[in-house]
Amino acid sequence: MDKFVIQGQRLLRGTLRVSGSKNTALPLMAAALLANGTTSIRNVPSLRDIKTFSYVLRISGAKVQHMPEDDRLEIDASAVDFPEAPYELVKKMRASFYMLGALLGRCGRARVSLPGGCAWGPRPVDLHLKGMEAFGATIELDGGYVIARTPRGGLPGGSFTMEPSSVGATVNLALAAVTARGVSRIENAAREPDVVEFCRTLQQMGAKIDGIGTTTLEIEGVDALEPVTVNNCPDRIELGTYMIAAALAGSREEPLRITGGNPAHLGEAFANAFKQTGTRVEANADGLLVHRPDTLQPVSITTGVYPGFPTDLQAQWTVLMTQADGPSSVRDTIYTDRFKHIPELNRMGVNARVEQNTVHIDGNQPVKAAQVMSTDLRASVSLVLAGLIAKGETHVLRVYHLDRGYESLERKLSDAGAQVRREAYDEFAAPDPQEV
Ligand code: EPZ
Repeated sequence: MDKFVIQGQRLLRGTLRVSGSKNTALPLMAAALLANGTTSIRNVPSLRDIKTFSYVLRISGAKVQHMPEDDRLEIDASAVDFPEAPYELVKKMRASFYMLGALLGRCGRARVSLPGGCAWGPRPVDLHLKGMEAFGATIELDGGYVIARTPRGGLPGGSFTMEPSSVGATVNLALAAVTARGVSRIENAAREPDVVEFCRTLQQMGAKIDGIGTTTLEIEGVDALEPVTVNNCPDRIELGTYMIAAALAGSREEPLRITGGNPAHLGEAFANAFKQTGTRVEANADGLLVHRPDTLQPVSITTGVYPGFPTDLQAQWTVLMTQADGPSSVRDTIYTDRFKHIPELNRMGVNARVEQNTVHIDGNQPVKAAQVMSTDLRASVSLVLAGLIAKGETHVLRVYHLDRGYESLERKLSDAGAQVRREAYDEFAAPDPQEV
């Protein structure tokens, strides 16, 4: 396994570049299955999740080629004839469940494993299944698999109201509905930028969708979609993570430059909270210049659906708030128990306590280096941020979680002045008795 070894308290200077969005690339890859031909997606990051989903697509018969030298992915979906997604891959990455909508849309049937649990608690898929049924599919559960079928002649379409709003269910239902024979309506649909970019791509492929960017999507089925060439958008969570890194560990003499991101995709709540910390952000044609303030103001946040504060940035915000000039809190209303990073931060001397769905954080805290364990993608990056400001050498174990969603993180941070290196280690090696 790999770990990151971080020498703390090195200031960030220079430039951090944001890669293509993971959470947009995945639905775009699923959409490619709906077109008989080769879809080309540009600005696709080299990440473990992209690799995993490429395997999932190949099982269905698609040919997938990733050209990391120019961040391009080509998906030839001329021969999609095996409508299955096996447990071995779906359990590794929940977004593989997008195969349900994609295969139903393309083949009229699908056998897709249920994803099971996730590192920080239950993540149900009931809305995906109820939505498909509302659109006229039959759904059966058998041996841990969902078997979905459209009636003869295609999916009739129908109406479905989501409660709560769900990114994944909106994507899955849209994938099934764009080639239905009738009209489908999704109420309380997600309007996260990932979903908006995905719906626009479906439109470019010939789908008829009204209401993109609102909470009501109306989709009129068409016979087939056409393959396209599409540009994936930048990763908004990577951008937010780097903005937080700049406010936390940037040089006060020189702002950190962040290129390639789209700040509008972070939503108003993040922009407002970031401004309230006293961190100044200048936007120019090149990207953002983030000026680390002399004093960081405490700002409490509550996560919400877009344009609310993204749940995928709450762990990083918690680390930022350890350096604020006073106490604050972080409340997650999307995933109410996504706090696996807190006991690890406690091991670094951070005083943060979880009460129900809220973390209470003391300000002005010294952070001490320690050996800590990654548990999921965003928890892991929060530990890396803590390592950047810690006194001493921090070891972040199990960085395979980070490799799912941050492209070349150790290289990007090192190029910007941090000291982060990747090292292989044997997690099950017995400790040397001389050292114990
Ligand atoms: C997407 O997950 C993202 N994943 C997550 O990012 C992100 O945290 C999440 O949206 C929220 O923004 C991808 O895009 C691949 P949801 P998703 O369905 O679609 C409840 C990361 O770190 N719900 O929008 O699975 C659910 O429990 C990942 O990159 C149901 O009750 O999230 C949650 O409370 C992690 N029933 C809320 O909806 C359902 O059937 C929102 O979840 C589905 C969801």
